[in-house]
Amino acid sequence: MTSNDTNQATLGKLPDSFSAVVVGASGGIGRALTQHLAALPHCGHVLAVCRSTPPDFSGPVTTAQADVCDPDSLRKVVDHAQTPIHLLLYAVGILHGPDGMAPEKSLADVQAAQMQQAMAVNAIGALHCAQAFAPAMANNWESIMAFVSARVGSIADNRLGGWYAYRASKAALNQAVRTLAVEQARGRKGSICVALHPGTVDTALSQPFQRNVPEGKLFTPEQSANYLLTVVSGLSADDNGSFFAWDGQTIPW
Ligand SMILES: NC(=O)c1ccc[n+]([C@@H]2O[C@H](COP(=O)([O-])OP(=O)(O)OC[C@H]3O[C@@H](n4cnc5c(N)ncnc54)[C@H](OP(=O)(O)O)[C@@H]3O)[C@@H](O)[C@H]2O)c1
Repeated sequence: MTSNDTNQATLGKLPDSFSAVVVGASGGIGRALTQHLAALPHCGHVLAVCRSTPPDFSGPVTTAQADVCDPDSLRKVVDHAQTPIHLLLYAVGILHGPDGMAPEKSLADVQAAQMQQAMAVNAIGALHCAQAFAPAMANNWESIMAFVSARVGSIADNRLGGWYAYRASKAALNQAVRTLAVEQARGRKGSICVALHPGTVDTALSQPFQRNVPEGKLFTPEQSANYLLTVVSGLSADDNGSFFAWDGQTIPW
């Protein structure tokens, strides 16, 4: 697997008139992923799934609304995708929220409701999406499901502590992706299922935590989308069940 920092990701391995689904397309990264895919000359169709009112997209994009905590709402939007689907991207996530949810600095800040909310959106929501969309994925080709996770979900890489709910939910997502990768590869030879770290990206999610990001290390959503799609472009079946950073480096679980 190789990555290319400078070129625009062309996703040349995807077939002509490929079909993609982006869940979380109203978010900073999800929106940029959708726009990048829709601008590719061989893009057949992108289904942009949003919880809130979808943004305007140009190109062959259909928008649909669903909440990843509501599996029925996801099942209802599957029909809006062009089938078979070649690429499913999960770009949904929460770290903080209007209801007072905030990353915990210490054990004393841990609250069950926030842990449950993070798990519901960051981890269980991803499996709801896989349940809804997997039956429509291409099975005669290396179909790809890529889930935007976060480096802080790596247990091996955890040296700073804090952020209990977000870390635990991303670790749960990683384990879910690995488990899904094993199962999918049994029934659908050549299928690829990976977790991705997008870097630190200038979006609503990271906005309160950008102060200490070193110069040049805060990506625009478009930059991150390009990096992530470059990683996706380079995936092969051997990468099934892996966790990659934006630059193509493997992250330990
Ligand atoms: N930004 C970073 O620095 C960074 C770093 C590491 C990992 N990530 C990961 O990157 C992914 C994308 O985040 P982002 O930075 O683009 O943040 P963002 O702009 O806040 O986008 C988050 C997206 O998640 C959606 N969402 C939240 N709860 C949902 C639900 N129940 N059902 C459906 N959609 C829901 C939001 O929809 P609404 O518009 O309806 O709220 C929004 O589209 C997340 O998984 C995040 O953990 C980001």
